[in-house]
Amino acid sequence: MNKNKDISKDIRISVYGQGKMGLPLAQVMAQYYKVIGVDVNKNLVENLNKGINPIKDEPGLSELLAQNLKSKNYEATTDFSYASKNSNIHIILVPTLIKENKPDLSIVRDVAKKIINGLKKNDIIITECTMPPGSTEMLIPVLEESGLKYLAYFGLAHCPERTMTGTAIRDITGQYPKIIGAGDERTLKIVKEIYEKINNKGTIVMSSIVAAEMVKVFEGCYRDVNIALANELSYVCEKYKVNSEEIFKAANSQPYCHIHNPGYVGGHCIPYYPWFVIDENTELMRTARKINENVINTLIMDVIEGLNECNVAIRDSNILILGLTFRGDVYEFEHTPAKPFIEKLKKFNPKIYAYDPLCKEDDYKKFGVKFKNDFKNIDCVVILADHKEFKNLDLNLKNIKVIVDSRGVLDKEKIKDYGIVYKRL
Ligand SMILES: NC(=O)c1ccc[n+]([C@@H]2O[C@H](COP(=O)([O-])OP(=O)(O)OC[C@H]3O[C@@H](n4cnc5c(N)ncnc54)[C@H](O)[C@@H]3O)[C@@H](O)[C@H]2O)c1
Repeated sequence: MNKNKDISKDIRISVYGQGKMGLPLAQVMAQYYKVIGVDVNKNLVENLNKGINPIKDEPGLSELLAQNLKSKNYEATTDFSYASKNSNIHIILVPTLIKENKPDLSIVRDVAKKIINGLKKNDIIITECTMPPGSTEMLIPVLEESGLKYLAYFGLAHCPERTMTGTAIRDITGQYPKIIGAGDERTLKIVKEIYEKINNKGTIVMSSIVAAEMVKVFEGCYRDVNIALANELSYVCEKYKVNSEEIFKAANSQPYCHIHNPGYVGGHCIPYYPWFVIDENTELMRTARKINENVINTLIMDVIEGLNECNVAIRDSNILILGLTFRGDVYEFEHTPAKPFIEKLKKFNPKIYAYDPLCKEDDYKKFGVKFKNDFKNIDCVVILADHKEFKNLDLNLKNIKVIVDSRGVLDKEKIKDYGIVYKRL
């Protein structure tokens, strides 16, 4: 590669994938550079060019989009060749999936294949999507189909996205440093310059691309295993009939103890990443996955036992689920507990209703449940997502017999006053 050619004076960026991560990143970058947002979703691209922000739960995103369209620093397109030809930094931020517990990087490879139509000497390709260790470099043969040789003509880096919906702009601009791993010095210098410009916490330079990939995957594995431990310790607390919250809080007052909150692990990230590294020698992570998926069975048992305590058979009961999204105040259904929970609950034939302040009519249909936003005739309420609205529920209704609170949203003491059986995961 031409070491003397300094593209840092002429940085033009394409961000491939304008979803919950790609769009905020593109908007932050467009405050400093010319940015093209690329996506296969034609409707999304048309809306973005009209200034319509699809991610309403991302604070500040609508304003940035409006500013960047006005300054002409941002445009969206479905034309990959146009984007690739008109940029020299190519950031891939599309879904990396798991199929039958194995990574599926077909979308990333598809984007790489399209980038080669416009790949030029001195261009840099960055993967920001979460990648199994070693997989960014597996794109090299695909990119070399352009006829350009890796390192001699183009550079490669991995800079994992470490944020989540609702705090993406805050995190991208400086909640914690950006991890970067590059294949050569020139690429590292340019990539470092870009991320240091947008992130006021700077960068952590890793020794290799693989090392950078591991950082993000390990963050997810750490969370998953520790939540599994919290779930198991909660089970121990239940056996001894003590309040796990009280024990965890006291234990965590010691600086080496960080017991997490128990619960189901949902979303795009944590339930998937361990599968990027699990093999026959990683028993702990495999077991943690099993424990965390099993939370659904515990919740079902809580419903059955709670109703039994009130002499109500589950098949004769009316159950209201509060929250269908995977977490509070975010409109996202990826790996949501609501899906397996409802599927399992249906086997017992109760009448199932649901309410989620973020959901539309069609969403209830997808889950096969009826919309209901009151507690009339409801025997059991199950809280699955910690939407703010649920904190102040008016439970002053005589008919509710059981509440299963999987997120610890409600005040246990207050509920006792209503004579309701309260089960907290
Ligand atoms: N969502 C999160 O909280 C989060 C956090 C950190 C990292 N990540 C990682 O970021 C990556 C992207 O996640 P996301 O949440 O933005 O996903 P998303 O589903 O919100 O968005 C993905 C976008 O990619 C587009 N797309 C699909 N196929 C494409 C293709 N072939 N070419 C171009 N665009 C295509 C889709 O239309 C969509 O707009 C994943 O690897 C994920 O693991 C996500």
